[in-house]
Amino acid sequence: MNPTPSAPRIVVLAGGLSHERDVSLRSGRRVAEALRSTGAEVTVHDVDADLVPVLTELAPDLVWPLLHGASGEDGSVRDVLALLGLRVLGTGPRASRVAWSKPIAKTVAGRAGIATPEFVTLPQSLFRELGAARILDAVVRRLGLPLVVKPSRGGSALGMTLVTSSDQLPRAMVECFSYSDTALIERAVIGTELAVSVLDTGDGPFALPAVEIVTDGPYDYDARYNPGRTEYFAPARLSDELAERVGAVAVAAHQALGLARISRTDLIVDADGTPWFLEVNVAPGMTETSLLPQAAEAAGFGLGPLYRSLVDAAIAAYDNGTATDHLDTRVTTDA
Ligand SMILES: Nc1ncnc2c1ncn2[C@@H]1O[C@H](COP(=O)(O)OP(=O)(O)O)[C@@H](O)[C@H]1O
Ligand SMILES: [Mg+2]
Repeated sequence: MNPTPSAPRIVVLAGGLSHERDVSLRSGRRVAEALRSTGAEVTVHDVDADLVPVLTELAPDLVWPLLHGASGEDGSVRDVLALLGLRVLGTGPRASRVAWSKPIAKTVAGRAGIATPEFVTLPQSLFRELGAARILDAVVRRLGLPLVVKPSRGGSALGMTLVTSSDQLPRAMVECFSYSDTALIERAVIGTELAVSVLDTGDGPFALPAVEIVTDGPYDYDARYNPGRTEYFAPARLSDELAERVGAVAVAAHQALGLARISRTDLIVDADGTPWFLEVNVAPGMTETSLLPQAAEAAGFGLGPLYRSLVDAAIAAYDNGTATDHLDTRVTTDA
């Protein structure tokens, strides 16, 4: 390991094979640039056949996975990194796996007292075996309309449909099953959409200002990546009391799910002022237009020093023995 923490050697992992490959590559470039501006030595690498030999050769002080989607966020890549004995920034593989599954994350958050929309989870096989029409009737009777259908695991709103009438539901299911073998159907929340990022630079998790997302309809793939379709307010236009409440919900979700160092909780605040937890991301987007960097800038942080403080805190946690090994069943801290 590098004995001079003033110039840590970092490998940023970006790319991967998910639908969000391009976003990940842009996140990786941005984080690398920001860290280099603080004097860190940064190598950006994809997840490919060279990765293991390259990591072995470089023996970096820390690996920062910025992979979005599947193996990047579901704990798999983090499991391999930990097996290789590498030091990794962020949530460990086990807690990543919990967070990656929207129904499981909602269950854990719900048990911790966080409001999350009522939902059912339907695997494609069961849906076919029991007869789609009967099940969908029961879903609408029980959950009402409007509903949101989305893959139980996934990102960038791919495969997500807002369903306002029963006849749209079969089509929404087909769309969803093209991305995932399990659908999450949940009650739609109408209100103000917010993304609340949580960071831990060594003194415990704290929320950045919420970012408000204003778009015509759901915040879908097109609304995210087509400039001009969505307006962002950072900080969100909320009363101080509500801003504090949504920050507390995001920190509570981060803690209940055993996340480490960095996360972003997506929620919608309804007309009564209740923040409804939708999902949490262990590798939030870090591109020039992403929500977390917008929130950090709104809070007055320079991205370089902020990311560097995350890196330094992660390295320090390993140095002083507070990072738990991934084989340990406790699910906090960086490994
Ligand atoms: N229950 C819901 N009510 C209203 N809108 C929702 C709901 N669930 C998801 N959405 C919309 O779909 C988008 C994507 O859902 P989300 O759960 O954040 O998944 P991901 O970002 O991983 O694709 C949200 O940003 C929001 O606009
Ligand atoms: Mg989301």
